Amino acid sequence: MTLTVLGIETSCDETAAAVIRLDPENPDGPGEILSNCVHSQIEVHAPYGGVVPEIAARSHVSIIDGLIEQAIADADIELTALDGIAATAGPGLVGGVMVGLMTGKMLALSLDKPFIGVNHLEGHALTVRLCAPLAFPYLLLLVSGGHCQLIAVKAHGVYETYGSTLDDAAGEAFDKAAKLMGLGYPGGPAIEAIAQKGEATAFDLPRPLRGDGGCDFSFSGLKTALRVRATDMQPVSDIDVANLAASLQQAITDCLVERSLNAMQRFSEDETITAKNDYSMLKFVVAGGVAANTHIKTALEQACTAQDFSFHVAPPQLCTDNAAMIAWAGAERLRVGKISPLDMAARPRWPLMELNSL
Ligand code: KG4
Ligand code: ZN
Repeated sequence: MTLTVLGIETSCDETAAAVIRLDPENPDGPGEILSNCVHSQIEVHAPYGGVVPEIAARSHVSIIDGLIEQAIADADIELTALDGIAATAGPGLVGGVMVGLMTGKMLALSLDKPFIGVNHLEGHALTVRLCAPLAFPYLLLLVSGGHCQLIAVKAHGVYETYGSTLDDAAGEAFDKAAKLMGLGYPGGPAIEAIAQKGEATAFDLPRPLRGDGGCDFSFSGLKTALRVRATDMQPVSDIDVANLAASLQQAITDCLVERSLNAMQRFSEDETITAKNDYSMLKFVVAGGVAANTHIKTALEQACTAQDFSFHVAPPQLCTDNAAMIAWAGAERLRVGKISPLDMAARPRWPLMELNSL
């Protein structure tokens, strides 16, 4: 029997509700997306050049009920047909997380259905299985506005972090650079668009941590270097901005690729991964908002091909925040009986590795 799950996502500046279906006979996916409603708050935050937590939480409150109604209507099901309700319980902006979490709990309570509190990062980590069949284990580059990590996804709910960012996430670097260049928020898509008109070798920006053999990231130096270059050449012309954008995108791409190559080496040498599993090929997955960037995807795919890793990425609308990924991660948990108590608390910080015992 299939599992039909409602997902709710409110951890940052997207209010989202979606209904997906998981077929337990195909536990590695794909699932079926019955509806996927996303309301972006970009317009209300844009004047501030970033997300304002208090405004985000209030906006989630006013939108979430209608969005859930919409998701149920689009899925063409009754609420009673749901097998479970999943909501993001963290990590994220805690005011927003509480809105979705409370809404999910109340729905579950009133419908007498299981509730699953989902780790937002697990949502990103598993989305690729919603889109196409993909068995564990795989190496994951999770790269978004709040996170930049290389993780070995060894089995469902079993994660080993190889490296994380020491300061800013890659998406944050795009957002801060875009603010500096007056390109608006969110920065990633704006920089990707304008970079097409620029020259990636125009400015020699640093590649922090290059050559240390590790899997950590550091992006704050890049932002500072960009500021210095921009200040040096006032007034900045349109072509300067395009060149800066292209150079920045290239520097971030190079960092992501180099660190991923180090992680591929470690992953392929891990005997707990290679000895125990019947795998036809080592797998590399990129997820999170920055995975919507075509330049970055192309470079990562080339690196994978060179290392004999297969390359997997979800479509762009499932890379940025959405509730289908929360519903899917919830359904994967529901399938193995991992449901959550109704007194589960919202968690502003919640590293993936802490899920290993849950
Ligand atoms: O996963 P996501 O929607 O939210 C978080 O969980 O953080 O990621 C949002 C981030 C933002 O920093 C945004 O600038 C970045 O993803 N992003 C991109 C692109 N689209 C979104 N970065 C680079 N290129 C893009 N096309
Ligand atoms: Zn996210």
